[in-house]
Amino acid sequence: MRKSAIAVLTLLAAACTADDLPEQERVIAPILTSEQAFDEFTYAKPLEARVTHVALDLDLDFEGKRVDGTATLDVQAAEGARELVLDSNGLMVGGVTDGQGNALEYTIGEADPGNAEKGEPITIQLGQSTGPNLQQVVIAYASAPEAEALQWLEPEQTAGGRYPFVFSQGQAILNRSWIPTQDSPGIRQTWEARITAPEPLTVVMSGISRGDPEEVENGRRAFEFVMDNSVPPYLIALAAGNIEFAEVGPRSGVWAEPETLQAAAEEVGDTEELIDAGVGLFGEYRWGRYDMIVLPPSFPYGGMENPTLTFLTPTFIAGDRSNNGLVAHELAHSWSGNLVTYSSWRDGWLNEGVTSYIENRISEQVYGADRAEQEYALSFADLEAMVEENGADSPLTAMRTPEGTSPFDTAGEAIYDKGTAFLKTVESVVGREAFDAWLTKWFDEHAFQPATSEMFLASLREDLVKGDAELEERLMLDEWVYGTGIPANVKRPDPAAFAEVDAAVTAYADTQAIPDAAEWRGWTAAEQRRFLAELPEEMSADQLAALDRALSLSQSGNNEVLFLWLQAALRNEYEPAVPQAREFLARVGRNKFVSPLFQALWDTGEWGQPIATGIYDETRGGYHSMTRGNVDKIVGRTSEAEAPAQ
Ligand code: BES
Ligand code: ZN
Repeated sequence: MRKSAIAVLTLLAAACTADDLPEQERVIAPILTSEQAFDEFTYAKPLEARVTHVALDLDLDFEGKRVDGTATLDVQAAEGARELVLDSNGLMVGGVTDGQGNALEYTIGEADPGNAEKGEPITIQLGQSTGPNLQQVVIAYASAPEAEALQWLEPEQTAGGRYPFVFSQGQAILNRSWIPTQDSPGIRQTWEARITAPEPLTVVMSGISRGDPEEVENGRRAFEFVMDNSVPPYLIALAAGNIEFAEVGPRSGVWAEPETLQAAAEEVGDTEELIDAGVGLFGEYRWGRYDMIVLPPSFPYGGMENPTLTFLTPTFIAGDRSNNGLVAHELAHSWSGNLVTYSSWRDGWLNEGVTSYIENRISEQVYGADRAEQEYALSFADLEAMVEENGADSPLTAMRTPEGTSPFDTAGEAIYDKGTAFLKTVESVVGREAFDAWLTKWFDEHAFQPATSEMFLASLREDLVKGDAELEERLMLDEWVYGTGIPANVKRPDPAAFAEVDAAVTAYADTQAIPDAAEWRGWTAAEQRRFLAELPEEMSADQLAALDRALSLSQSGNNEVLFLWLQAALRNEYEPAVPQAREFLARVGRNKFVSPLFQALWDTGEWGQPIATGIYDETRGGYHSMTRGNVDKIVGRTSEAEAPAQ
């Protein structure tokens, strides 16, 4: 049993029920029972008793760095089911009652020592059911200050520097550290929330706002949200801070701190066009609004597809919309991932690979075929490099990941880039028109439901292959999804996409001829990235200095470009880049940039390791727990090690 119940919390327990909701039909999504659908990272037993709706009533406590209040769960129990099992991670439970306020017995189990990230099960004894197999369970609780889904920022970690900030990151299995529910992507739930925060902070969530906030006691305001589409619970997300809103279009807008708002709004100015493109390609946008929030720099990802409210890193702002593939990507999840979702983390490609493909199609529509082909070529080069590094028969190159793979390790090239290449290949074999029609139908038929690899393949076979043995052979479907390496039928990117840049790469490798500065400036961000990614592994200080002098690499306003420059410089022990790396690593918290730069320093050994340690001592406190966990491993720090105060 976890320690002390918090007395005050039990008083709150009866205060909120989902009954205050306007009556509406809630569609309850099925639970898949096939072997592929099984999620080994939940304690829930949804076939016995499952959560169908979550109603949160929470206070944001910035001093205590915790949320506290209640979660009221609608539960559907099978005949004779006695127990409801929830996921939790570090939650402090004050008490559990039924919808009428009667106490229910519960236990909090031990964490599985072999799988600590799974957290601990909460097992609740269900009373007599209050309706036809449906009842409510009210949990009074608080999150732990170290809850991994929540990052509580001090004012100095924000752009404005005056107010605290908090944001959540649920994917993969972090939401159980602030929401006691069945935290598995195959157990979809509708939700609503009432969240209070001290003035003047504004709360936003990944659902539709119920209107203006209400003044409540102690200078606090209450914000209400609702999500009537049932979603995988990792998509419940929250952010609060001194944020303002700028409209982008009729369906879209952006939240950010006032200091960042204008640049943010300018950068996402293409959003309506992106939405139109997605709708034109793959059918209705079913979430009402598409808003975004640009978070403080410690947000560990580029973006997160929280429905109605994509979360974005501020580091994508380049002043010229050149990193807008990120918005296209998160928007594309409105179909793949959010509408149709993997049931198990092992099918990561169903979310991320399909999304990367759709991202590319949206890019093509809005920015043209040349840019889209360049983006595919960058992705394909990453895939080839990954396969080269691991070997073509490594299980790490399979799209459906091996049993036991951490849900956090489902964000690599085998998922995104091989998934994209797979769909590009199917598209080229069956023809674009037929493939688009099929994909649209897939989303329609499985809207708001979980799916698996085998369902995807079965549907392709039923609708497109239709028993045609020759077509079946040409597609190599099983080899793509379950096999390793890159199947022989792969649709490669057009080599012409980067013809000019690749010629410059070769010229540089052969004769160290640096592209002309004007030519370089005329290149797209994708072209600049290609050139930097293809630089020789080993370069001398003189070569690096000459390149920087000629192309002003260290002055680039595009963080993707700056990152590649710093990576090349650090792996070659280029001392003059160290101050800039230090500045970059203090300003940028995105794991995709931070971890590889520490890795580059660390891999040099004697030269870079003291530099890495020195920088990390200064920056570690500002990073998200996810980023910190990764860099801790690189620099050999244990998580208990004393970190500089946040
Ligand atoms: N859903 C992912 C982020 C994620 C994946 C979080 C797995 C936790 C576990 C998001 O949509 C994503 O892919 N972000 C990328 C964007 C890029 C591919 C354009 C990122 O953050 O880099
Ligand atoms: Zn994604």
